[in-house]
Amino acid sequence: MDKTIIISNRLPVQLQIDNGSITAIPSVGGLATGMKSVHSGGDSLWIGWSGLTDEEIPDGLAPEIDKALAKHGSSKVNLTSEEVDGFYYGFSNRTIWPLFHYFLEYSEFELQSWETYKAVNQKFADAILKVAGQNDTIWVHDYQLMLVPQMVREKRPNISIGFFLHIPFPSYEIFRTMPWRKEVLMGLLGSDLIGFHTYDYERHFLSSVRRLLGLEVSFNDIYLEDRVIKVDSFPMGIDYKKFSEAAKKHDENKTGERSELQRRLDMHKESDPEAKFFLSIDRLDYSKGIAKRLNAFEYFLTKYPQYKEKVRLIVLAVPSRSNVPQYQLLKKEIDELVGRINGEFSTVSWTPIWYFYRSMPFENLIDLYTSSDIAWLTPIRDGMNLVAKEYIATRTDKTGVLILSEMAGSANEMNEALLINPNNFEEIADTLYEAINMPVEEQKARNAILQKRLERYNVEKWANDFMTSLKNQKLIDHSYKSRKLSNDILGDIKKEYKKAKKRLMFLDYDGTLAGFHGDPQKANPDEALYGLLDRMSALENTDVYLISGRDKDTFTKWFLPKKYNMIVEHGVWISENGEDFRMLENVKKDWMEKIHPVLESFVDRTPGSFIEEKNYSLAWHYRKTDPDFGQKRATELNTVLTSLIANDDLSILNGNKVIEIKSSNVNKGRAAMRVFSQQEYDFVFAIGDDWTDEFMFQELPESAITVKVGRQKTQASYYIDSIKNVRGLLEHFIE
Ligand code: ADP
Ligand code: G6P
Repeated sequence: MDKTIIISNRLPVQLQIDNGSITAIPSVGGLATGMKSVHSGGDSLWIGWSGLTDEEIPDGLAPEIDKALAKHGSSKVNLTSEEVDGFYYGFSNRTIWPLFHYFLEYSEFELQSWETYKAVNQKFADAILKVAGQNDTIWVHDYQLMLVPQMVREKRPNISIGFFLHIPFPSYEIFRTMPWRKEVLMGLLGSDLIGFHTYDYERHFLSSVRRLLGLEVSFNDIYLEDRVIKVDSFPMGIDYKKFSEAAKKHDENKTGERSELQRRLDMHKESDPEAKFFLSIDRLDYSKGIAKRLNAFEYFLTKYPQYKEKVRLIVLAVPSRSNVPQYQLLKKEIDELVGRINGEFSTVSWTPIWYFYRSMPFENLIDLYTSSDIAWLTPIRDGMNLVAKEYIATRTDKTGVLILSEMAGSANEMNEALLINPNNFEEIADTLYEAINMPVEEQKARNAILQKRLERYNVEKWANDFMTSLKNQKLIDHSYKSRKLSNDILGDIKKEYKKAKKRLMFLDYDGTLAGFHGDPQKANPDEALYGLLDRMSALENTDVYLISGRDKDTFTKWFLPKKYNMIVEHGVWISENGEDFRMLENVKKDWMEKIHPVLESFVDRTPGSFIEEKNYSLAWHYRKTDPDFGQKRATELNTVLTSLIANDDLSILNGNKVIEIKSSNVNKGRAAMRVFSQQEYDFVFAIGDDWTDEFMFQELPESAITVKVGRQKTQASYYIDSIKNVRGLLEHFIE
């Protein structure tokens, strides 16, 4: 049976060895807790690190460990303590984690840990390759394994690979500071589908791909050689049922069945029914903003002293990555802060902060969620934050208030919570006040909406959506109408070419015969191209046409003395055998007065863009603009133009970094057909790279050999990977 292979640094359980016996404890953190429910089906295998280094595993115990993991559908990758230092404590958590959470000053760029990161990623990739069948699906998780997709792709070019990043992807300005930024991007691009929690992370990633690798990105598709990689956002949900049912069961528990923790919480509630519990739960991580939260609590007690002895903050901090110096410092800072605030405000009967530094069993987590009036989560940056969702899921009577940082990915889906900026103490203090005083009806109304949403978009739906999208991506990739122009196909085409009595060939210029240049006038033909075209024009029984959107003056200058056949301005003008250009279509120009000022306003507001005035069309070029900004403006211009030209017989052509407006009755397809219908041609060939060439591909007869340069969707029958291959292909017809 085909299986799904989940691969992440953490397995769903962590192993511990006490006196030679092995115990498995559940892993903490969003990835492990979320994926656990996805993994429970029978046809998946989870590969990861056991949490123990090779040195920590006593001789002879390895088979027992494998058995213990197999019970959880898991298998381990072995890591030495040196590897764990460089890969986990090093590059993953001292470089990537701080950088991706915008803690630039904490990021260390050390060559040695990068080397270990690469070597360990290769170990994970090898572990996959050892067990993966051709039809299996690989799902790689998170920032510790960003090179794995490419490493697997190299060995299994056709296997299906998905990647999901559980942390934020930072803006290009941050990401570009990393010395190995290109390697990391290329590693990820081994995938077929790359998922993020939010659209913002997706957008940042695409921007880095465009700017750092210069790859073609169209909407959320990335074109890399002969592959298309899809990027999308899938906000991760929780196992809603597990939390809501645990909470229901908790409500029904008789007094005698309650946990020690619950009994203590109840005692405090009973002693003062008006008192409120604030809950703060996170891994002990600087990105979670725990220290700021404590300071903000102090500020709240000072600003609203009436709540002294009335509120209590329960802080649950789970130990995490304690070998990393920043985490050790943070632990110290929080210990001191809790001590100081408690020292400052405590009374005989009241301790403002209860602080737990440990992992808690699931039942106790439910005790805390269900007993707290307010969940107060203020990460400075957080990929998602599942605790926020878990709190809402446990509120069986729909009461309770969630105060959540805007900087958490989950804030995007939880608008009904009270959203705050974690750096704004004034706002936080006022929001706590608002939360304490929020009428029960309002609490219920807000939570009802949140619960409905979380129940629907739960973790299972999240995983299914991702997997469906991954499957579809593979299908789309194979269902391209056009096929790669292989040597075999080319051999067949050459046979037809030789057999034919009269041949017709259309060659697009920019992006096909010549590369792009910021200044279109500088993309002039080189000597080798003249040589090639001379030889092609001299072919017997073969009519070769350059077909271009270029203006007639430029082509007159470049090609008229050579007597090449030419169609320019998308089909307005034609010149054959060195004769002057004559009009192929009668077109109007009066619309230009109306459109020109619109384009000018876009030039003013988009540095680097410019207008090209042709005889019968206007083009707005944005190749030299900032890629993201240019794209944004292009979308805007498209909208403006569409409404402006609604009643005119004009069309908008979206070319390669250019938007062109021209009469609707002019296009390359129509022009090519006019030439085609003049004689009895029995071999027709057309090659081009952008939208404007699609008209040719569509309109020429089915038997024509149509070739697209690049991998974008096309009506052409074949494609070749890049402009580098065009001239070599044309040489085949001259041999
Ligand atoms: P992160 O992934 O950064 O740790 P999330 O909020 O997304 O943050 O996920 C934390 C996960 O860990 C949640 O599923 C939560 O239930 C679990 N968790 C948090 N605190 C504890 C704890 N003390 N003991 C056990 N699990 C915990
Ligand atoms: C976050 C990361 C996970 C990680 C978890 C716990 O959720 O996205 O990849 O597993 O934190 O961190 P740890 O370092 O203990 O695995």
